[in-house]
Amino acid sequence: MLPISITRSETLKQKPTDESKLGFGRIFTDHMFLMDYELGRGWHDARIVPYANFSLDPATTVFHYGQAIFEGTKCYRRADGGLQLFRPQDNLARMSRSAARMGMPELDEETALEGLRKLVELDQDWVPHQDGTSLYIRPTMIATDVMLGVHAAHHYLFYIILDPVGSYYKDGLKPVGIYVEDEYVRAVRGGTGFTKCAGNYAASILAGAIAEQKGFSQVLWLDGVEQKYVEEVGSMNMMFAYGNKIVTPALNGSILPGITRQSVLTLAGQLGYETVETKLAIADVFADVKSGKLTEAFGTGTAAVISPVGELCWKGENLVIGDGKIGPVAQKLYDTLTGIQYGRVEDKNHWVLKLT
Ligand code: COI
Repeated sequence: MLPISITRSETLKQKPTDESKLGFGRIFTDHMFLMDYELGRGWHDARIVPYANFSLDPATTVFHYGQAIFEGTKCYRRADGGLQLFRPQDNLARMSRSAARMGMPELDEETALEGLRKLVELDQDWVPHQDGTSLYIRPTMIATDVMLGVHAAHHYLFYIILDPVGSYYKDGLKPVGIYVEDEYVRAVRGGTGFTKCAGNYAASILAGAIAEQKGFSQVLWLDGVEQKYVEEVGSMNMMFAYGNKIVTPALNGSILPGITRQSVLTLAGQLGYETVETKLAIADVFADVKSGKLTEAFGTGTAAVISPVGELCWKGENLVIGDGKIGPVAQKLYDTLTGIQYGRVEDKNHWVLKLT
């Protein structure tokens, strides 16, 4: 593990006073963690410094060819005031897998985890207290060579920034409406769909904007070949409850292997639900909603936690799922997952990393 130097900020920012208005992704703490990579030298200069702008040459490769990957994990405040992380090692391991697909260097996961811990400890007063709030942690890696040739860069920057957050969707646990995208696709087999690369999200922005104009919160992506099978929502993996059976699209290379997805599947099994990972046709989802077999739909993700879906629109047809409130399966999973994350429920799977 690399040594990590710490330079404290001389001036501290004002912290948000109203935790009910945190939202997502707009407020950043006093410090950040940085670490540089050079081909032949490896990762070096691990450091925590005051949060500040980067100065990058306009020809820096990340701006042109998009070698950029990121992660999302959170720090939670327990009722006793202590702090804990949820499966951060899994996020850093996934980042190394994203890096491999993008021709970027494998992360020094040990130093990254230590940097993450030290950064959160230093900025711990920023971890909000109110129920449902947390400190979102955004590890990011970008290519920093200054050159316009299309090649894997020789220099990279890894950094972590922190953002106190409330719920990702403005209405919290109120079911969201989702637009099933049947024109654009997010990812194809053999592509980068399973990674958290910036390009996957860039490719989703137009469809997201169109869906928002139509009054929906997000887009549900179908497979990139036949546009028949449910993939994911971009900010969350999708799950469907058929009574006590939970069905979710199987990982196929173009879906993000969500850490929340995997945690929810494990918890669901332990709670006695049947879980099925399969290829799931959107036409069947619609038929099953209409026949009443499909009882709940919800998304899972670090930012989104467990978000109920109350409406699906596909090819001009709108279907309502549930009665405008979170359903019992999603509620049970939400209570169990967040119970573990906030230290209210026993962590039988050893997912929690206590900081204080
Ligand atoms: C996350 O859940 O951490 C994500 O990265 C989703 C997102 C806000 C893009």
